[in-house]
Amino acid sequence: MEYLTIAMAKGRLAKKTLNLFDEAGIPLKKSEDDSRKLIFTNEELKVKYFLSKASDVPTYVDYGVADIGVVGKDTLLEEKRNLYEILDLGFGKCHMVVAGMQGIDQKENQRIKVATKYPVIATDYYLHQKNQPVEIIKLHGSVELAPIIGLSDVIVDIVETGTTLKENGLEIYETICSLSARLVANRVSYKMKSNQISYLIEHLKKAILLK
Ligand code: PRP
Repeated sequence: MEYLTIAMAKGRLAKKTLNLFDEAGIPLKKSEDDSRKLIFTNEELKVKYFLSKASDVPTYVDYGVADIGVVGKDTLLEEKRNLYEILDLGFGKCHMVVAGMQGIDQKENQRIKVATKYPVIATDYYLHQKNQPVEIIKLHGSVELAPIIGLSDVIVDIVETGTTLKENGLEIYETICSLSARLVANRVSYKMKSNQISYLIEHLKKAILLK
């Protein structure tokens, strides 16, 4: 039997992903706290997994070097790869929102400056849903700083607990969509390794239901 290779987003989703696989009876060795090792194998189940930056997971799956990926819906919407989205894993729940300074009137129908880690999602939202001219300013983190120091009018970003917004005097203006972790597959792998992938889906579904 060939190995089934899984790409997982490192960071906040990684621990929950490995826990869910454990609960599904597919235990995957965890990296030691201080280890830089990136790829792990379960010889018995013929499963390999590796951790990568979230935004690279869809790329690995699209090229077929990973058959399966676990990644947030935000990354899928931003990367727009032609993958097969199989399952909502039910964790990593959060929202994509437009946020800005508390108590400030929003600009309607005029050009708006938007700072974001998600330029594709933000552009789609302003141009295709709101029909509002937009200047997108791409940032790589701590996006909440942008409206505070006057770089942008608003941000498009993820809100999970709302703590970061609150502690920085920001509030949600609009909710764009709900997000969570998703299981995705390479379209060819989904056909060629259908038995292994079906086994995985079935066991993950049972574990999700038991939560
Ligand atoms: C994310 C997001 C927000 C924060 C929201 O950032 O971009 O800044 O988490 O979480 P909260 O609603 O629970 O406060 P992340 O922690 O990934 O760091 P970054 O800003 O450096 O990208």
